[in-house]
Amino acid sequence: MARRTKVYEGKAKVLYEGPEPGTLVQYFKDDATANNAEKHDVIDGKGVLNNRLSEFFMTGLNAIGVPTHFIRRINMREQLIRAVEIIPLEVVVRNVAAGSLSTRLGLEEGAALPRPIVEFYYKDDKLGDPLVCEEHIIAFGWAAQQDLDDMVALALRVNDFLSGVMLGVGIRLVDFKIEIGRVWEGDFQRLIIADEISPDSCRLWDMKTGQKLDKDVFRRDLGNLADAYTEVAKRLGVMPRNAGRVTKPTLIN
Ligand code: TMP
Repeated sequence: MARRTKVYEGKAKVLYEGPEPGTLVQYFKDDATANNAEKHDVIDGKGVLNNRLSEFFMTGLNAIGVPTHFIRRINMREQLIRAVEIIPLEVVVRNVAAGSLSTRLGLEEGAALPRPIVEFYYKDDKLGDPLVCEEHIIAFGWAAQQDLDDMVALALRVNDFLSGVMLGVGIRLVDFKIEIGRVWEGDFQRLIIADEISPDSCRLWDMKTGQKLDKDVFRRDLGNLADAYTEVAKRLGVMPRNAGRVTKPTLIN
């Protein structure tokens, strides 16, 4: 049997060559990492949940005219995506102070921000993905001014969409990270949302209790990560409780 070609392996996903030119297969692993992979564990079912949740968010974004790389889900752990040229920047949008913003500026976690804040981090594991400003991005040629304007506009549209969807199921979207890629259509380039959108790359707090339903559960040892992600999936109607978990066969009397 022919073996498919692995194009890239990251901490939580693997990319394989797709069935047609310009496509890739994105495989979601169960691996969870934090602090630039200093902390690592394998969480049963996380890849299945993130595959379904990323499908849900990307499908919604495509439907409202925000272009993404998502084409279709193939199976429990894989989706067909458009190949893109990834811009080497993590784009973070924040609605509420938390995480590195709170640490850097001494803001109390949970303080509302006066407006959504868009930040850029240079994707480089060796440097620990440092925060960079527009001057760095332009000077070092990671993106052009027009790209930056488009990236901010895309990020804010994603923020409005995700905030609304989460509000509808009693969850506050505190912040999130997206990655953006270039695709070429004839002589024209277009920027589209790539990578994944899942509780791995968002901060999600229950509106009533403040309970964390995202990767901070793993980063800060707050409980079972798969249970938190399953709660998000269940509220969004994406999959029933425990559908992503490995369970033992049950004897029916
Ligand atoms: P931060 O507060 O640690 O800077 O994270 C901001 C948001 O970005 C949070 O939702 C987690 C997400 N994020 C990632 O998805 N990957 C990363 O490598 C980092 C640093 C943050």
